[in-house]
Amino acid sequence: MTDASTQPAVSVDPHDEITNLSDNPTFASVVDASLSRRSVLLGTAATALFTSLGGVSTLAISGEAEAATAAKKLLSFKPVAKSLADAVIVPEGYDVQVIYALGDPLTANTPDYKNDGTDGDFDNRAGDHHDGMEYFGLSADGKPSAKSGTRGVLGVNHEATTDEKLSSHFIHADGGTRSLPRPAAEVDKELAIHGVSMVEVRKTASGKWEYVKNSAFNRRFTTMTEMDIAGPARGNALLKTKYSPDGTKTRGTINNCGAGRSPWGTYMTGEENFNGYFTRPKGDDEARGKDKSVTALNRYGRKEGDTSRHGWESAGSGDKYARWINAKTGTSADGSDDYRNEMNGQGFVVEMDPYDGKKLAKKRTALGRYAHESAAFSNPAVGQPLAVYMGDDARNEYIYKFVSEATWSAADATNPDRLAVGDKFLDKGTLYVAKFTADGTGEWLELSLNNPAIKNYDKYSFTDLADVVVNSRIAGDAVGATKMDRPEWCAVNPANGEVYFTLTNNANRSIEPKSGSQLEPDASNPRAYSDVKGTSRVQTGNSHGHIIRLREAGGAGAKAFSWDIYLFGAEASADPATVNLSKLNGNQDLSSPDGLAFSHATGICWIQTDDGAYTDVTNCMMLAALPGKVGDGQKVNINYTKADGSKMSIATPVGKAPTEGELKRFLVGPKGCELTGITETPDGKALFVNIQHPGEGTKAADVNDPAKYESQWPANAGYGAGKRPRSATIVITKKDGGVIGA
Ligand code: FEO
Ligand code: CA
Ligand code: CA
Repeated sequence: MTDASTQPAVSVDPHDEITNLSDNPTFASVVDASLSRRSVLLGTAATALFTSLGGVSTLAISGEAEAATAAKKLLSFKPVAKSLADAVIVPEGYDVQVIYALGDPLTANTPDYKNDGTDGDFDNRAGDHHDGMEYFGLSADGKPSAKSGTRGVLGVNHEATTDEKLSSHFIHADGGTRSLPRPAAEVDKELAIHGVSMVEVRKTASGKWEYVKNSAFNRRFTTMTEMDIAGPARGNALLKTKYSPDGTKTRGTINNCGAGRSPWGTYMTGEENFNGYFTRPKGDDEARGKDKSVTALNRYGRKEGDTSRHGWESAGSGDKYARWINAKTGTSADGSDDYRNEMNGQGFVVEMDPYDGKKLAKKRTALGRYAHESAAFSNPAVGQPLAVYMGDDARNEYIYKFVSEATWSAADATNPDRLAVGDKFLDKGTLYVAKFTADGTGEWLELSLNNPAIKNYDKYSFTDLADVVVNSRIAGDAVGATKMDRPEWCAVNPANGEVYFTLTNNANRSIEPKSGSQLEPDASNPRAYSDVKGTSRVQTGNSHGHIIRLREAGGAGAKAFSWDIYLFGAEASADPATVNLSKLNGNQDLSSPDGLAFSHATGICWIQTDDGAYTDVTNCMMLAALPGKVGDGQKVNINYTKADGSKMSIATPVGKAPTEGELKRFLVGPKGCELTGITETPDGKALFVNIQHPGEGTKAADVNDPAKYESQWPANAGYGAGKRPRSATIVITKKDGGVIGA
């Protein structure tokens, strides 16, 4: 799945994928749009309005001067220094507590977690690799509450597991088998540690937070949980399987990475690198008659002969193992007697009701199928459609938005049948993909058969809308979408509706591309450079990533936007003309922005990192930012010299360089972790953050030798039994009880 030939020499990230080898342009050729158009798009005065979800207004600011006054009170904390310590470090005046870690029991009858590899019953425990997360308030009597800051349900993604080769090593006593076939007992644990948790959390009388072990709201969704297919692909031939011959259901959710929260109070979980869990035997191309399903599978990273990440298919002949063999093995014409279509049931945004433990989750197919991260909603406006912004995290993939057919009314926010509101807004509408132009404008290109570029595409014949949304990457190729540097999370600024996307990094940017998968820099992905890690390792491409932001040209349903690059990740010592273009100092520098969220209480933009380029100097981190708006900076030229001496210059609109009062480091995590998942209580006084895969550099053979663990967190922070590192949710509060980040 990972293109080893283009990887850095060390530290291969299994989540850094590339399957986009289409020849559509990496950048639009239109470069001469007039400045006057841009100034029209950018010139609208900002009117800020912070509204918390559920329609409760917490802070209203009108005009930039007042916004600036409010902003002065924020980010007054002393920045946290870069750190290689095996600890979570926050500013003076803040407390950190671990509240929910891998293996924690979710029922009264589930034994405490021993953390020695002998625990079972993961259907009733916290899963692994905590990722995207959202808080859903509960009133004292257990009803949904948009205001409650003391009790709520956390939706928590469990993306993956710490594996060295095949096995999930910390959950098996001896580190697990590292060859095929895998024992069923091990695989059964691994099937259950993936998925999503719903877990109740509450603030106790002492002011501390805890999760509630015996809460009726606690629930696990795993790789085996039955789910509904909703939207245009429901019942389509592409979804027919032995499990669901009518194509209306599938089992489970996988590689749940970014998350989102709908304006009606449901949890949105993004299925990211789903393809790696499936195997596809040699000969399957022929078995399928080399039909268009082969084209689709190849574009989605499953060529025949590809093996699976964990070898789950090898654990026996039972259906729960066989389903991971994505091959035509049956004789039916439609796939209802095998799992040739099984992978088409993964790769969606899935909607879950955190307040109702009985309802099936719904895969919202209208939002497209790709390596999903977060799903960020436009700020709801009565009488207007809603937009959902999303990225496809693999090298050279695209940015998308879905626009609902239905328009918003205030009553939608409090309708008690939340999944019915989801049906209303998320099953009918239009999917678009982004094309960026060098003048700082861009277009949303429609992905449907109404678009001649899709209807007449010569490399894949789309049958219907279901085919378009299930194969949205191919649709994006057809319309010439812009290939990006790994779109990770997106977030909507509650103050002005602008949309921010982290582009985490891209090893495949080069000023002298040597293969079809390498791309020249362009205005929206303008950097390709060398970065030194440690004393000698040189990595090339855009190793530190950037954050791009868009301003719609007229509401959520707009077909055009303007954009600039808000922030470039960089080491403070890097060349300010080509790499450290945002002029970051040592209290601000970061690499590989990933998690991203705006606080609805304060307007702070939280930026989290998943870094493999700066980790010789610092563990992954979280920063607090107060961004301005699209167009607050200037156009910058980045000048390159190729090996033969020829020159190349990329002009790109860059946001105003942040002062330390506008961007500073807030937190550094323990060794080997990635910071991800961020949500808050509506009053902004408790911030929940996930520490994912601490100690992931530990070798499977060393799982019983704590001295050889890369990390012993959270045991070394006083949490739980055993010393094996565990992914966990932390909660951050202020010692004076105030708002986080103030
Ligand atoms: Fe799971 Fe793209 O991070
Ligand atoms: Ca470096
Ligand atoms: Ca991520």
